[in-house]
Amino acid sequence: MMRNLHLVRSFCSQIKPYSFVTTPIFYVNAAPHIGHLYSAVIADAIHRFNGLVNRPQSSHSTSIFCTGTDEHGTKIQQAAQNHSVPVATYCQQISDRYRGLFNNFDISHTRFIRTTDQDHMLAVQHFWKALEATGNIYSAQYSGWYCIPDETFLTESQLKENDQGIKMSAESGHPVEWTEEKNFMFRLNCYQDDVVHWIKGCKDRVVPEKFQKILLDFLQDPLPDISISRPKTRVSWGVEVPSDSSQSVYVWLDALVNYLTVAGYPKEEFRQKWPPTVQVLGKDILKFHGVYWPAFLIAAGLEPPKQLLVHSHWTVDNQKMSKSKFNVIDPNERAVLYTPEGIRYFLLREGVAHSDGNYSDTKICRILNAELADTFGNLLSRCCGKVLNPEAVIPVVDRASLESLLAIEATQRMLDLLHELPEKTRLNYQQYNFYLVVDCVIQMLHATNNFFETTTPWKCKGPDGKPKLQTILAVTMEVLRQTAIILQPIVPRLSGQVLDKLNVSGDHRSWCDLKVQFSQRERPLADSESVLFRRIVLPKTETPVPVSKAKKVKTKS
Ligand code: MSP
Repeated sequence: MMRNLHLVRSFCSQIKPYSFVTTPIFYVNAAPHIGHLYSAVIADAIHRFNGLVNRPQSSHSTSIFCTGTDEHGTKIQQAAQNHSVPVATYCQQISDRYRGLFNNFDISHTRFIRTTDQDHMLAVQHFWKALEATGNIYSAQYSGWYCIPDETFLTESQLKENDQGIKMSAESGHPVEWTEEKNFMFRLNCYQDDVVHWIKGCKDRVVPEKFQKILLDFLQDPLPDISISRPKTRVSWGVEVPSDSSQSVYVWLDALVNYLTVAGYPKEEFRQKWPPTVQVLGKDILKFHGVYWPAFLIAAGLEPPKQLLVHSHWTVDNQKMSKSKFNVIDPNERAVLYTPEGIRYFLLREGVAHSDGNYSDTKICRILNAELADTFGNLLSRCCGKVLNPEAVIPVVDRASLESLLAIEATQRMLDLLHELPEKTRLNYQQYNFYLVVDCVIQMLHATNNFFETTTPWKCKGPDGKPKLQTILAVTMEVLRQTAIILQPIVPRLSGQVLDKLNVSGDHRSWCDLKVQFSQRERPLADSESVLFRRIVLPKTETPVPVSKAKKVKTKS
């Protein structure tokens, strides 16, 4: 075993030219909900943004964006038993639901990994041997309080008792049970300084900053070594420890290695891709990614991730989501009413990484109607609709008309915002402040709607009015072109619809195309749908009834 401070130091200097974005892999013990989708949508927006700024395509195509399912361990075994389904079948079914969800919501992953994939199980065993070869694993008789839902041993200080005197995890509230068994242990304690050094080694290692502070506070107390195997008699559904067939690899070690598997580990080529540029995770799994994961990697002589982006959680009407409260939000069910794009928009518009967000149907409906239907959609149909644009064209700007429009304050304000827009939104994307990207875009669209109202294009009648009308339409369409390019990482389908309508070719939709450009010749609009987003009307109960259930109710009555 060796101390690896020098390795951590040298890691910081290497800059790789592509992006490697990850989501946590999702437990298959229950169906996906809106919180799970949130982790995936954040990572997808980052991956798509990197693709937009890193064109030409070749550098984007070497990028990695992985997600998948975490399928081993007791709680999965138990969930399968509760459903009276063989565990492999059960895993397949729930994993397929995640895959389906991510397809429906256009999550553009380059690999969907399952911890039951053959290449992953081999990678776990290889990684185990690397830890063993460097003297980081030892065998011990272990006893302690084990929490099955959290798949972790807890110390006395991490426990609390409920009213009936039952011990449970103070953090998650899940019950614990006393367990005595032979385990393999990992020398976590030896890597405490290395982990602190890694966290402090680069600016913005863990963002938002509050989560970096939480980690550093946690690291003030000495770290105990951790158990990284379970007897097979208790956890049979797992990866076998290479040197001891009576033991299964601890599910968290197994799960974390997924990030190495997707890079091609243990094949040597994986080194060209390693490490991840940003790993997205929820606040509940910070310790695993911010302490155990870098420690495992440093112990194996590998570089830890460049950055962790930690997000907070979604509550529903200010309550934690839980099956017993019947308030779990199924994104597919909600998408029937709001569309997948509507839900993506809401999550990234309303969610902020540093504090919990609250989901409510009233709020999502209000935001989508006001912003996607009335602001973005309205502007598109105004300039593409028959009333003002009967020839369905992207007109040419008339210089003299533009000059006189520039004398109007509303025009100036709109163009000022347009000049600032690419830089402001780029910075917000780079800081993962998606809600600020949307803020800038909506402000831009409001200013453009205001320009439209002030310059009254519907009053430009006859041949005399035509140059002014055409100029107003051309300038407005330029705003729509740029805002649609910028919104692609957030609402790829809707943005694509706008860009299609404006006849923007596929190779002119990247960040470098965000320069004001007016067409030199009149071009036709595409003959595609110009209604961008239909207004939503909530059913009277305020709770949207999914189509399937609505039909059932009708048949009954
Ligand atoms: N399997 C582990 C992760 C292993 S990664 C090597 C796990 N899975 S999970 O299914 O429980 O959670 C996956 C992600 O969903 C986590 O980022 C978690 O924070 C996120 N969310 C789960 N509930 C959530 C909310 N209510 N709100 C937002 N995100 C939440 O942990």
